[in-house]
Amino acid sequence: MRKLMTSVAAAAFLMTGTATMARATESVEVLHWWTSGGEAAALEVLKKDLESKGIGWVDMPVAGGGGTEAMTVLRARVTGGNPPTAVQMLGFDIVDWAKEGSLGNLDEVANKEGWDKVVPTALQQFSKYDGHWIAAPVNVHSTNWVWINKEALDKAGGKAPTNWDELIALLDNFKKQGITPIAHGGQAWQDATIFDAVVLSLGNDFYKKAFIDLDPDTLGSPKMKEAFDRMTKLRSYVDDNFSGRDWNLASGMVIEGKAGLQFMGDWAKGEFLKAKKVPGKDFVCIRYPGTQGSVTFNSDQFAMFKVSADKIPAQMQMASSIESPTFQSAFNVVKGSVPARTDVPDSAFDDCGKKAIKDLAEANKNGTLMGSMAHGHANPAAVKNAIYDVVTREFNGDLSSDDAVKELVSAVAAAK
Ligand code: BGC
Repeated sequence: MRKLMTSVAAAAFLMTGTATMARATESVEVLHWWTSGGEAAALEVLKKDLESKGIGWVDMPVAGGGGTEAMTVLRARVTGGNPPTAVQMLGFDIVDWAKEGSLGNLDEVANKEGWDKVVPTALQQFSKYDGHWIAAPVNVHSTNWVWINKEALDKAGGKAPTNWDELIALLDNFKKQGITPIAHGGQAWQDATIFDAVVLSLGNDFYKKAFIDLDPDTLGSPKMKEAFDRMTKLRSYVDDNFSGRDWNLASGMVIEGKAGLQFMGDWAKGEFLKAKKVPGKDFVCIRYPGTQGSVTFNSDQFAMFKVSADKIPAQMQMASSIESPTFQSAFNVVKGSVPARTDVPDSAFDDCGKKAIKDLAEANKNGTLMGSMAHGHANPAAVKNAIYDVVTREFNGDLSSDDAVKELVSAVAAAK
């Protein structure tokens, strides 16, 4: 019965057209983890857009990068029979909720607006389930980036590192300058974000076999030991207070010149922009050395939950607004990500954004675009969390590289 009412209501509102899609009293309740300065600024773009269409915003922020905490809160809400209207979500989590039958159906909006033709297929595998649209993709981020303080880089000779040896030389130079070489926050998802890039720098094939295919031989290989050895080496360049630090505070260290660089997804750029820093002048963005030409992506999508019929018009309006090309440009310019549609011009984006758009298109063409393990685009949560656990214990010195390799193989096997 509920299902019937749902589609009838959806059809009714679609007939009324965009302008009158929702009445002023309608609102969406949105669960998300965009709580840093840059993230909040981007979220504001969405709130304002909906406000202009008469849709109110009920905010449900749950801090914690990568969304681990947000997903725990969501589980409690759904179990309590009271899901939010829309939830920021990553990759495999969306599919998991769809499998549970918890998500609504966006087909009418998606078909009317031709999403199939403009949303990259790499994202559609998470926005659609069983052939039906279940989520509206907002952006594409990627994890294999480095954010470098320009002044510190200039003092080190001005050349951005292109391989591991050059990276280590630069980190040593930062040390000589008396600044913390690597700004890092010791949280499992941040350690895993670095691991994405380290593994990718040892080869596209290696990354794919390890994280996408979960091939036991690759997970247990000498190359994987090398990846962990590199993590140990990188760990020697973080400051004593890194443990538990939030990622945006680590970005702040680079912004203020207290640290040389940060390995982080391009949401970090949102922090630099919020602090009025200019790419090329105040900071430099490069792909993690050795990963040029490859992209480990993650896409924030708003998964739309099954809600009562009266809430559907606002929910559909939100989905429609998110996919509008103008919104995609305005939002992603602030967020640090790139549009989730292929037809949005790059004219409003800064140099890092233009590079990100170009890198994404090229990686997609060349078969070097792969889902981020750290941000839920390579595996379902159970496997992701098993990898997190091993990576973080090794990074914190609780496991040797040799033991980490063995544990990785067994933890992944157990979680699959
Ligand atoms: C999300 C970003 C977010 C970052 C840090 C990532 O998983 O995709 O949108 O900015 O976490 O919170």
